[in-house]
Amino acid sequence: MQRLVEIEQFKPDENYEQGLRPLNFDDYIGQEKIKENLKVFIKAAKLRNESLDHCLFFGPAGLGKTTLANIIASEMGVNIKTTAAPMIEKSGDLAAILTNLEQGDILFIDEIHRLSPAIEEVLYPAMEDFRLDIIIGSGPAAQTVKIDLNRFTLIAATTKSGGISTPLRDRFGINFRLEFYKDEELALIIYKAAIKLNIKCNEDAALEIAKRSRSTPRIALRLLKRVRDFALVNNEEVITKKRAHESLIALGVNELGLDEIDLKYLDFLCKAKKAVGLNTLAATLSEDERTIEDVIEPYLLANNYIEKSAKGRVATKKAYILLKLSSPVLF
Ligand SMILES: Nc1ncnc2c1ncn2[C@@H]1O[C@H](COP(=O)(O)OP(=O)(O)OP(=O)(O)O)[C@@H](O)[C@H]1O
Ligand SMILES: [Mg+2]
Repeated sequence: MQRLVEIEQFKPDENYEQGLRPLNFDDYIGQEKIKENLKVFIKAAKLRNESLDHCLFFGPAGLGKTTLANIIASEMGVNIKTTAAPMIEKSGDLAAILTNLEQGDILFIDEIHRLSPAIEEVLYPAMEDFRLDIIIGSGPAAQTVKIDLNRFTLIAATTKSGGISTPLRDRFGINFRLEFYKDEELALIIYKAAIKLNIKCNEDAALEIAKRSRSTPRIALRLLKRVRDFALVNNEEVITKKRAHESLIALGVNELGLDEIDLKYLDFLCKAKKAVGLNTLAATLSEDERTIEDVIEPYLLANNYIEKSAKGRVATKKAYILLKLSSPVLF
């Protein structure tokens, strides 16, 4: 079964291709505090004729980190080069990327928490002093060669706030945590996206889709596209609340935005009646651990269906009530 939201696998973004990815702050709905702050920092950097300070964005999958990085590049009027930490295997890979940056360019590194410690070391002087320290040779004959870099802005994204080392985190002058979206914000994203997809979506229908989108724009857009398919085969030019409701039921998304895998996850956890480790959950659900941690759990945690402790994950009373299961005496 296809999940509603998946980890971006560095494939071209279909939303971008379909003109759905916002290209400026005006089209980027929500995250108001982050936007207001970024506008000030961008304006100040431009007034000083400097590159923007390095930025770190944290937030669950699909909340708009990559989109934000691209908007910053366009507002700064600079080029953006995009890579992801797992693609940078050797320090030479990073050196090649950094030496190819032009003055003011933005380097976007996705999944920064997956950078190896050895590569992090190369990044430190590059971020701080725009300098590369490369060690050539080994043993007593080893020499450090210093290469000056053009001033650049590193924008990094991570889905794991605790996943990056303190020294690396400290080198970002701008650090933001993206919030889950309100239903009204998602409804507006859906409403505007429908227009770009050449279909009208009634406001109450947009809200209906929004409510089931796990507070996440990527899911909202994915659901909109599927609901649009249902409208199309039913010969309808407008997405109504009724059509949205029926399509979403057909897609197996419940009123709370939980899909089959979420429910299976909660069912297993409730019935276990004790803390369960990530590897056990992954094996039970046939999902990889990253998908569970980055995609399934953030929404369940944010909505208090589960709690994480050192011993593992436990279902909350809310989860037992949802599944109509009797909860253990500890509640
Ligand atoms: N604030 C927003 N307003 C409108 N559309 C948005 C917004 N944020 C994200 N989107 C849409 O949602 C899609 C997913 O966003 P994006 O790829 O930036 O998420 P991400 O945080 O980088 O996810 P991942 O962690 O999986 O890389 C985008 O293609 C964009 O169309
Ligand atoms: Mg991304």
